[in-house]
Amino acid sequence: MSDLIKNSRMSGFGRLSREEKIQKVAEFADLTEEEVNLLNDQADNVLFEKLQRMQENTVSLSPEPFSIVPNGRINGEEKLVVMRGEEPSVVASCGLIFSWAREGNNGQGILAEYINDLMIGQIQQYGFKDEEDALKSKELLLENKESLINIANKVDPVLVKFGGGARDLEVRKIDSEIGQMLVTHLKVDCQDAMGANTVNQMCEVLTPYIEDLTRHKVGHRILSNLADERRSTASLEIPIDEIKKKADRDGLNMSVDEIEERLMNAYYFAKNDNYRATTYNKGAMNAIDTVGAATGQDVQAIEAGVHSFAGKGDSYKPITEWKIEKDLIKGKIDVPMAVGIVGGSTKINPMAQIAKKIMGVKTAKDLGEIIVSAGLAQNFAAIRALALEGIQKGHMKLHAQIAATEAGAEGEEVEKVVQMMVEQNATTPTDARKFLAELRAERE
Ligand code: MEV
Repeated sequence: MSDLIKNSRMSGFGRLSREEKIQKVAEFADLTEEEVNLLNDQADNVLFEKLQRMQENTVSLSPEPFSIVPNGRINGEEKLVVMRGEEPSVVASCGLIFSWAREGNNGQGILAEYINDLMIGQIQQYGFKDEEDALKSKELLLENKESLINIANKVDPVLVKFGGGARDLEVRKIDSEIGQMLVTHLKVDCQDAMGANTVNQMCEVLTPYIEDLTRHKVGHRILSNLADERRSTASLEIPIDEIKKKADRDGLNMSVDEIEERLMNAYYFAKNDNYRATTYNKGAMNAIDTVGAATGQDVQAIEAGVHSFAGKGDSYKPITEWKIEKDLIKGKIDVPMAVGIVGGSTKINPMAQIAKKIMGVKTAKDLGEIIVSAGLAQNFAAIRALALEGIQKGHMKLHAQIAATEAGAEGEEVEKVVQMMVEQNATTPTDARKFLAELRAERE
């Protein structure tokens, strides 16, 4: 009955106080007093004042684990890496791979590099009479390239002062179902900013000039998240011997040859099957996104760019490559990495500032290099686990912890229930409830 009178249309909702908004939501969703208290408690967090400014209608905060991955050595520098997220085992397995990669590349650890830093802004035009008409406009745009770049550079004098700005302009012709289109690509060096706002603004400022030159209307003006001219790469080397020693400790009883064969099979499976490549890449994104989230990046933009880059050729491909050479497994990653440390929301969130400080990030380049290093390590963590032992084993303990907490275990009970679950190979909340009941019964 109450469903019938529910109405999500709440005119003036944005003007209500935080408490009033929560009250409305609580009535709408039948929230309990406990749930309302939890929402209110989060708003007592010292960060609430700042974070609420980042989004409209913020009524509470939804915290996530902020975790440290030790053992990093990137370009010879010691690194602690910060991740924000809740995917089980990501932090521990990344730390393990970091520890194995430390002595690689002549003791430099993971070698990472930020290649180029040009973001692409797109200015689209359509409605050309025919191909010739489109080509005429393309020529006009290219003839006026320098002056268009100069106009774009008036948008952000500070960026230009610090060595950035619009650098190049290209024009692509697209033969579409609705006729010829032209897409002008404005390439902008955004320095330490992710650059979306500046690039979008530059594209908008150029609009009247482009319409005037070509006598054709402009359609879309927006940056492209396929930042294939702003990429980061990393490479690492791991002694097969380390992997063998862990396999022995885990009682896996595998020869070096078998380990090598299984690891290479993991890579070639992903290379030749895009159903597998998707999940394989998701493993790398487990680190890329969580380091990105910890530092306040536009994670959706990173995701969109990486996956589009992975699909740029004939089919969707893995974003990493692996080979075995002289007792070492060697991997590399090369992906778009549009990250920033100034502008946008990166400066507002004090947790993002702390994350950057812990990681010693001073430039967008530093951050891009750390992110892809963690992505590569995380990808290998999944390869190793899947190839040698299956993924569930490593996740068991964390799943058990989550199930035990969900079942209502408190304090020391959590560890005890987890231990019982791991011993019995049990993972579900029902198992956890059963063990918790047993434990409590024993104590009575
Ligand atoms: C799970 O979050 C990530 C993996 O599926 C990655 C992979 O399959 O390579 C384990």
